[in-house]
Amino acid sequence: MSQVTDILQNLDYGVAPESAQLAEDWLNEHGRTFGHYIGGQWVAADTTFATINPATGTELAQIGQGTEATVNQAVEAAGVAFGTWNSLPGAERAKYLYAIARQIQKHARLFAVLESMDNGKPIRETRDVDVPLVARHFYYHAGWATLAEEEYPHHGPVGVCGQIIPWNFPLLMLAWKIAPALAMGNTVVLKPAEFTSLTALLFAEICQRVGVPKGVVNIITGDGETGKALVAHPNVDKIAFTGSTEVGKHIRRSTAGSHKKLSLELGGKSPYIVFDDADMDAAVEGLVDAIWFNQGQVCCAGSRLLVQESIAEEFYARVRRRMAQLRVGDPLDKATDIGAVVDTTQLERIHQLVEQGVAEGAEKFQPECTLPAQGCFYPPTLLTGVEPASTVAQVEIFGPVLVAMTFRTPSEAVALANNTVYGLAGTIFSQNLDIAHDVAAQVKAGVIWINGTNFFDASVGFGGYKESGFGREGGREGLEEYLVRDLPTAAAQPLPVIDPLPDADPDIDRTHKLYIGGKQVRTDSGYSLSLPLATGGLADISRGNRKDIRNAVEAAEAAASGWASTTAFTRAQILYYLAENMQGARHQLVESLTARGATEAEREFDATIHRVLHWAAWADKYEGTVHQPPLRAMVYTRPEPLGVVGIINPAAPALLGFIGACLPAIAMGNAVVAVPSVHNPLPALELFRIIEASDIPAGVWNIVTGLPEELESTLAGHDGVMALWHFGEEAAQAKAELESAGNLKQMWTPSGPLDWHTTPSTEWLRRATQVKNIWVPYGA
Ligand code: NAI
Repeated sequence: MSQVTDILQNLDYGVAPESAQLAEDWLNEHGRTFGHYIGGQWVAADTTFATINPATGTELAQIGQGTEATVNQAVEAAGVAFGTWNSLPGAERAKYLYAIARQIQKHARLFAVLESMDNGKPIRETRDVDVPLVARHFYYHAGWATLAEEEYPHHGPVGVCGQIIPWNFPLLMLAWKIAPALAMGNTVVLKPAEFTSLTALLFAEICQRVGVPKGVVNIITGDGETGKALVAHPNVDKIAFTGSTEVGKHIRRSTAGSHKKLSLELGGKSPYIVFDDADMDAAVEGLVDAIWFNQGQVCCAGSRLLVQESIAEEFYARVRRRMAQLRVGDPLDKATDIGAVVDTTQLERIHQLVEQGVAEGAEKFQPECTLPAQGCFYPPTLLTGVEPASTVAQVEIFGPVLVAMTFRTPSEAVALANNTVYGLAGTIFSQNLDIAHDVAAQVKAGVIWINGTNFFDASVGFGGYKESGFGREGGREGLEEYLVRDLPTAAAQPLPVIDPLPDADPDIDRTHKLYIGGKQVRTDSGYSLSLPLATGGLADISRGNRKDIRNAVEAAEAAASGWASTTAFTRAQILYYLAENMQGARHQLVESLTARGATEAEREFDATIHRVLHWAAWADKYEGTVHQPPLRAMVYTRPEPLGVVGIINPAAPALLGFIGACLPAIAMGNAVVAVPSVHNPLPALELFRIIEASDIPAGVWNIVTGLPEELESTLAGHDGVMALWHFGEEAAQAKAELESAGNLKQMWTPSGPLDWHTTPSTEWLRRATQVKNIWVPYGA
């Protein structure tokens, strides 16, 4: 009898290994050596490196190290293929995407096993998550290829896309990048991560088999140097990167001024918030997916557990109990929960960060579990008693390590959740939907999961706020990353003479002041600039400096959240009122345009009034949508403002350009720091009193005049500024892009001069917002 009791007590899974034979055969067929896939052919590599199975330490194959010559060859092949591919009707491109999807399903087992062996992730995950999502991505985007002409009439493909992906979801990240690019008519050069190239090479074989035209898909392998060469190549029109924030910043800098379109999906330190009324068992199970899925090597991993204080001890106890049941071991065993970490370097990094956490005061819990004698294994780990500012609470560990903190009130939860440079995802567990949706709106992240976690689908955008990068993958937002919408341009106009006289005698009474925090203020320096007027005489304007820009950003930051939460209807009404007040000041505004030489001042003024009305109309109509992914969940989206937007205004037309650039950002709920062109700031300066009278709250619209070289760097480098729109000279745009990398601002640097008289498209509103996707699963 006692034996039966023992058996029941120790009931455990037996091993259920998946055979590696299929993958071994495939590797053997290729002599365990791979070159690059370029122009529809396999090109042998001069040098190779080993790719290792991290669960066993054995070599799987030799992979080609791509050189600059490899990159040149691949980009050329993609360039040659682009014209033909792009001119195929979308419905024809769709056929290839369908064919790829079907082949992926047909070879699902080979893909799943190969991915597990190369990356170390459990077969259960590759089989049930990665590979099905990859097929779904190609099916979904085949549909978009069919609909491209109908749905995107004023758009075109970007061109040759350089795509660089990480090792944590090798095949899935490939699908996220290649499917939308091909659907919209682009050609690609994709570089997988050096640890995990094999499924990308198998994918290349699939492309060859289904007859994807030569050069449309090129796969080159290699390390960061190969990636660097791809980023630097002058004929690459877009870079799509997923990986570390550090490399993302490097790419931002190295593409500055290149006009390459850029999307960056970077790191995260996502909060997992559990309120005291949560279904605790569901929250514990969710946590298993949030931090122990893929060994925690997930950019959106719920790696920061925030628990309401009243239930913290009880919740931790349940988590510890659940951790003791997680099975760590052979990734090819179908009963394994946690497989191998990708590489020894990553294992060492996790180990060091955990020890640092303990040294900084955290309490470490690891369940008793026997790790395999060989391979890169790390046990599931819980760190409690963590201080919000400590290293492990701030740095992305990218391993099976959960750090836990407590909170008392919903607002404290939000403050802790947002206490990070990242903003990729967030999870909220609460049975009170009022709280859950309210907190979802306040957490600054691109994806929120309510009462569930780590849901993904091709129809739903994924991507980050803040230093988690910019751009989205999935859904319409993802498609738009692979499209360009031409902005109408105008012939360059002669600019009014500037040659401002620096350090003119500051006659304070006559000098136009700055407008900061709802007040007219003097510059920090006390200096001014004199502009000669077409009607004779001089106009003195303030010569703002770094301190003035910093003050303006501070005022904007203080106003941003209030303005963002003002209803869109109220924002619309305020903008209508602005138009009314501008109309009342018609004479004075037309005069100031004429004074600086505008030949058609009245026409410009009338166009400006129309523009204000246009953005007032849009203020309450640019709305979210509801997705219906193929699981029992709905996803609603919120186009949210970015925060503080810096705007370098165009030189001409002075009033229409100034209003046309600032108002879409303001209409969408952003606070703005605007720098009028030094060529002609006067019309903007005439607006101060009108803005005051129009109920635009103090700090929402700040205006700083001065010399571009003294203002722009501060704005581009300021961490409080979340986006910068630069309508100035090309060289200045390039410099601003370079200086914006610190906090990964969303940059907009259109090639000018733009035709400001044409009615603008919703591209402006897309630029003024970032999409948050909120997942709400349902079911009784
Ligand atoms: P990484 O960012 O260095 O590598 C990602 C990809 O970028 C790889 O294909 C790599 O070859 C390529 N790459 C590296 N340097 C490059 C450069 N200068 N120019 C162009 N391409 C370049 O990531 P790594 O070193 O593999 O992992 C380090 C840490 O980054 C991890 O511990 C984790 O914290 C984070 N990470 C985040 C990921 C995410 O999905 N958010 C994915 C992978 C890593």
